[in-house]
Amino acid sequence: MRARAWSVIILVTAVTVVAFLAVSGALSQQAPGTKTDITERGKYIVSTSGCHDCHSPKVFVAGLPMPDTTVLLSGYPAAMKLPQIPKGIVSPDKWGALASNDFTGWYGAWGVSYAANLTPDSATGIGSWTEDGFMWGMRSGKHLGVGRDILPPMPWPNLAAMTDDDLKAVFAYLNSLQPIVNKVPAPIPPQK
Ligand code: HEC
Repeated sequence: MRARAWSVIILVTAVTVVAFLAVSGALSQQAPGTKTDITERGKYIVSTSGCHDCHSPKVFVAGLPMPDTTVLLSGYPAAMKLPQIPKGIVSPDKWGALASNDFTGWYGAWGVSYAANLTPDSATGIGSWTEDGFMWGMRSGKHLGVGRDILPPMPWPNLAAMTDDDLKAVFAYLNSLQPIVNKVPAPIPPQK
């Protein structure tokens, strides 16, 4: 009888320990993968990888361009007019590139490129992109992996070197932003 009581106690303890391990294991596995964590990771990568430098319009604070927090990552403002580009200013023995005052518009040997709207507006931003399309694009340097070459100074090779999880986190964060309607113009090829 006593032996039986002991075996019941041991069994109950074993079941409790196994159940505890299973629950804590499930919790610790789930924690890094929740939607909020992934989005936070994406925000961290985007804010430490220079995306705002080129993709966020700016406000001027003490004369210096700072990301405009009301329109973060919405790309080259469609209503902006670039000043006339001086002839012959960019060449291998002169300047490499010119930038608009907010660094969303660029001119170089590739012509004029405009930083894309990275907010999830489906017509003018990335709202209609699939995660796969985004990843193929960043890995191949071609729009969504199949379109035209992505132009400088977009540093897509840096994104190509990220892990799948990091790229997915960037995409999840961009999709968590407020969609902003801003139709960035098509690039202009270099003048002959
Ligand atoms: C030095 C400026 C610069 C930086 C920094 C930059 N971008 Fe870009 N990005 C651009 C420009 C310019 C374009 C438009 C290129 C074009 O029209 O081909 C672009 C285009 C894109 C596109 C659209 C590509 C396509 O398929 O059409 C995505 C997505 C993108 N950038 C994401 C990012 C992310 C995420 C970061 C930060 C990790 C980042 N960019 C950092 C300048 C930049």
